[in-house]
Amino acid sequence: MSKKILILSASPRKGGNSDKICDEFLKGALDAGHSGEKIFLRDKKINYCTGCGFCNTNNYTACSQKDDMAEILEKMLEADVIVMATPVYFYTMDAQMKTFIDRCCSRYTHVTNKDFYFIATAADERKSALERTIDGFRGFTVCLDNVREAGIIYGSGVWQKDDVQNTTLLQDAYIMGTNV
Ligand SMILES: Cc1cc2nc3c(=O)[nH]c(=O)nc-3n(C[C@H](O)[C@H](O)[C@H](O)COP(=O)(O)O)c2cc1C
Repeated sequence: MSKKILILSASPRKGGNSDKICDEFLKGALDAGHSGEKIFLRDKKINYCTGCGFCNTNNYTACSQKDDMAEILEKMLEADVIVMATPVYFYTMDAQMKTFIDRCCSRYTHVTNKDFYFIATAADERKSALERTIDGFRGFTVCLDNVREAGIIYGSGVWQKDDVQNTTLLQDAYIMGTNV
């Protein structure tokens, strides 16, 4: 069955390590006959959640703020597979990803029946150094109904923008993409 993939790339570095891993994942998925796209969050206008409660009083159907989140949330609802990618900043996700997740509040009860994949990149060589970041993603997905954690790319040991090219991470991501 052909699936619809949505990749959310949260690094501020376009073409950086996690963003390249996203591209390979998407390439693998497309080569396997699926459809999908990557959204580079920095290209979008995503304000902070203000905690105003508008979504709560409107059954999580809308947000009081008018920016690019509505369009992204619509795509999340349509997707079968959601991939979330972040660089590790001070041993957790970066601000772009956290801001994005907080803004999912406006429709999160409707984000159901999805497979989730997580991608994180860090300079630290230890895979264990990425666990807090991955656990941060789980803080989001644990709030969603009927979702599955389907795979994780632990991108440890990559510091400079192109370091990922000296690893097997791109191949790993491609293969993971083919197997969604
Ligand atoms: C503000 C900042 C904080 C960082 N904090 C960490 C960290 O806590 N641990 C770590 O291993 N690497 C840290 N790094 C390095 C990045 O995680 C690393 O360069 C990663 O490959 C960036 O991914 P990207 O190319 O997808 O943006 C930090 C980098 C920046 C710019």
